[in-house]
Amino acid sequence: MVFQHECQGPGLAYTEDNNFKVRLFDLVNALARSLDMVSHTLAGHHTNVGFFAARIAECYGLSSFERRNVVFAAMLHDIGAVSLYPAVDSLLFEDDTIKHSIAGSVIISSSKKLQDVSKLVEYHHTPWEELRGENKRYEISNIINLADFIDVNTRRDRPARLQVPLLIELCRKHSGRLFNPDYIEALREAESKRDYYHRLYSERTEKKLRLSTQFESDMLDAEGVLDFTGLFAKVIDFRSRFTATHSQGVAITSSVLGRWLGFNEVEQALFQIAGRLHDIGKLAVPTTLLEKNDKLTSSEFSAIQRHAVYTEHILSGVPGLEVIRDWACQHHERIDGTGYPKGIAGKEISLGSRILQVADVFTAITEDRPYRRGMDFKQTTKVLRQLGDSNKLDPIVVEVLIERYDEINDLRCKGQTLALEHFSNYSKVLYNKYGIVSKDIS
Ligand SMILES: [Fe+2]
Ligand SMILES: [Fe+2]
Ligand SMILES: [Fe+2]
Repeated sequence: MVFQHECQGPGLAYTEDNNFKVRLFDLVNALARSLDMVSHTLAGHHTNVGFFAARIAECYGLSSFERRNVVFAAMLHDIGAVSLYPAVDSLLFEDDTIKHSIAGSVIISSSKKLQDVSKLVEYHHTPWEELRGENKRYEISNIINLADFIDVNTRRDRPARLQVPLLIELCRKHSGRLFNPDYIEALREAESKRDYYHRLYSERTEKKLRLSTQFESDMLDAEGVLDFTGLFAKVIDFRSRFTATHSQGVAITSSVLGRWLGFNEVEQALFQIAGRLHDIGKLAVPTTLLEKNDKLTSSEFSAIQRHAVYTEHILSGVPGLEVIRDWACQHHERIDGTGYPKGIAGKEISLGSRILQVADVFTAITEDRPYRRGMDFKQTTKVLRQLGDSNKLDPIVVEVLIERYDEINDLRCKGQTLALEHFSNYSKVLYNKYGIVSKDIS
């Protein structure tokens, strides 16, 4: 039996005729933006490297498919560093150019649409003299190496237009060894064009990137978006062993709750997407805070609370994801208005957001954490009913969950176990093939 609810719920306009569509570029861009939130020293690093790579690719005359791949790879190139090193800040890797490149490549290869992109990330620090002739298809990753060199060495407190020509001259000293001489020339040519600097570090950078990655088959339906959001979930969960696999638990719980509250299949996929994305803003919160054992000061607590605002900010740049964005960024709001970040209350909170709220609390209290076991049925029911009775969580959604507890809890457990297996496989691949030790999340 499907439960009826008075709040706006099933039957979202675009799911009726199944025209939910999102551009792959917008998702890559959102992921790049969230990676950029981790490093405070190199603001906008992934977006800028994407921008430089696009300019080089354009002047060099790559095909549209190669350009799309190299720009996507540039926009995500240090994703491995974010998962290997939680405290990563400067994104300067003199000592480790190989580990984070391989880790990034392994993470990205989990997305069907980005197989070539993952290879380009693997080679993004490989010197030109090693790369040339090895595999023609991946030679273009040297464009990322060059773009990265320029951005890492561009000081944020001085105008880029004064620094980039000097940096290009510096690159020329490494021509043929570190960098392909033709790519350096292409960058020099791009640099000589007048409108260049107006675009760097601005909203126009994104426009430029969007244009240079235009590719016919890159519109994704709900299933395609779900596949891609696996990347987001990996980055969030792998950063902190305290949240490992949490996103997947929320994704599954909310989609099953959605089913029992009358949402159709496409909408259930949207709940999975929202679950995987709900804590993406945590990338902007230092892991030392997320993992702090002692009591948090009030300023530390508000720093953690800001993750909901960051989630909204990141997802706002993705046209088509508006409903998911609202569900995801309202997961800490409460029906009585005592939640955050906005303190909205009652009917201002849609049924979808109410489902995410219940799924988030349920997953948090039932999953095992390194410092405690998850709660059993009796304790879980008690906590959820208290929150329902005190008008924090939606009491109807709470009752649906309790009524279906065995089914939902079983699916949550299986989903989280699978996510943990994926993480262990990722760790094993890194260790067995490359001797890289990633974080222990057991
Ligand atoms: Fe790198
Ligand atoms: Fe980088
Ligand atoms: Fe959260």
